[in-house]
Amino acid sequence: MNNFIFENATKVIFGKGCVKEYLRCLSSHYGPNVLLAYGGGSIKRNGVYDEVYKALRDAGKNIFEFSGIMPNPTYAKVLEGAKLVRENQVDLLLAVGGGSVMDCCKAVSMAAVYQGDLWADFWARPGVVDFEPVPLGMVVTVSGTGSECNGGAVITNEALKIKTGRDYPKCNARFTLMDPAYTFSVPAFQMVSGGFETLSHIMEIYFSAPDKENVSDDIAEALMRGVIRDLRAAIANRKDYAARSNLMWEATMAENRILKLGKQTDFQCHMMEHQLGAYTNCNHGAGLAVLHPAYYRMICNAGVKKFARFAVRVWDIPTENKSREELAHAGVEALADFIKEIGLPVTLRELGITEETPLEEIANSVPLAPGSYGKLTHKDVLAIFRECF
Ligand code: NZQ
Repeated sequence: MNNFIFENATKVIFGKGCVKEYLRCLSSHYGPNVLLAYGGGSIKRNGVYDEVYKALRDAGKNIFEFSGIMPNPTYAKVLEGAKLVRENQVDLLLAVGGGSVMDCCKAVSMAAVYQGDLWADFWARPGVVDFEPVPLGMVVTVSGTGSECNGGAVITNEALKIKTGRDYPKCNARFTLMDPAYTFSVPAFQMVSGGFETLSHIMEIYFSAPDKENVSDDIAEALMRGVIRDLRAAIANRKDYAARSNLMWEATMAENRILKLGKQTDFQCHMMEHQLGAYTNCNHGAGLAVLHPAYYRMICNAGVKKFARFAVRVWDIPTENKSREELAHAGVEALADFIKEIGLPVTLRELGITEETPLEEIANSVPLAPGSYGKLTHKDVLAIFRECF
């Protein structure tokens, strides 16, 4: 395994009823002013807003609101939130939502106190956070990104057409409340997209050096099998609490840094999807679903031993009468079949991309990951986009 240092500062409270039971007490550790941040309004329709609001009111908080955080949050929205934090002297920023709300709030927690140009100094390139961001708490309402337990924040700069993520440990939430029952109201498409996002995170770590036997790959295989099983169960029965709770924790496990320990990691597929998102605002999990099979077909031979292992250990493909190459490709096709089975898109057209979309310009804007088995070029990225079109 490669060397590593591990720390995760987020306290996790997981389970049915956790907001009612713990939010009041958790928020009492901070000053009186809370900024309650959320997205387009799903929390007002499913009762989550009322539960959160009551807990904060019972704790005697002054509640200010930051609403309308959009999927694929923009840098402009980050600056809007930062202004609210400063104007209301906010002591605790409470993100109630999915990856978009959580990511936006992490960037807000920095922007509210940083004096310089946050984008230039921390998102255009990695920076050093030598100041204290505003304390952050989270209530997760849709699972998939794992943002609740890391410092990662993926932000879209619309003016520059760049969607990029940075992981600053100082942006880890102080606490995260995860009630799987909150995810029952998530629309089927978003539930599946979030589940696939989790699978993608695991694969992006698994398909990278080192490939000698290691703890991370063993955990990754168990998690991938779990996500596949639990997605099937949650699709069959939308109210399956066991499946929803597993999916929620699998998402956290995939991105709470534990799996990355000792691994180089790849994330080339994420970088391709992020730039498609920057230009077209497509759904993140669905974009990943379209790209993964084409990307893996391209790099399969370069990582043939690992893809063959994936076929056997994750998809239970029998080894008899198959060369290692055939086995490896069968694993990739099993992944492609699963994407169809769970009803995610398989072409860029289904994501709303048209002949007018500047695919070559997008391909050229994609950062090239050093950890990929295939070491892509921008021409390769364009070839993947064209194959998926
Ligand atoms: O905005 P509202 O009305 O709340 O609706 C949301 C949104 O439309 C809805 N939703 C959330 N909880 C719900 C619900 N609808 C009904 N009932 C509920 N309980 O779901 C929709 C999608 O929400 P969003 O937060 O955008 O989804 P997700 O969690 O997939 O987050 C995606 C964002 O996270 C970034 C992605 O790039 C994207 O911007 N990522 C963040 C990562 C990280 N921080 O580690 C890693 C990921 O790879 C990813 O890049």
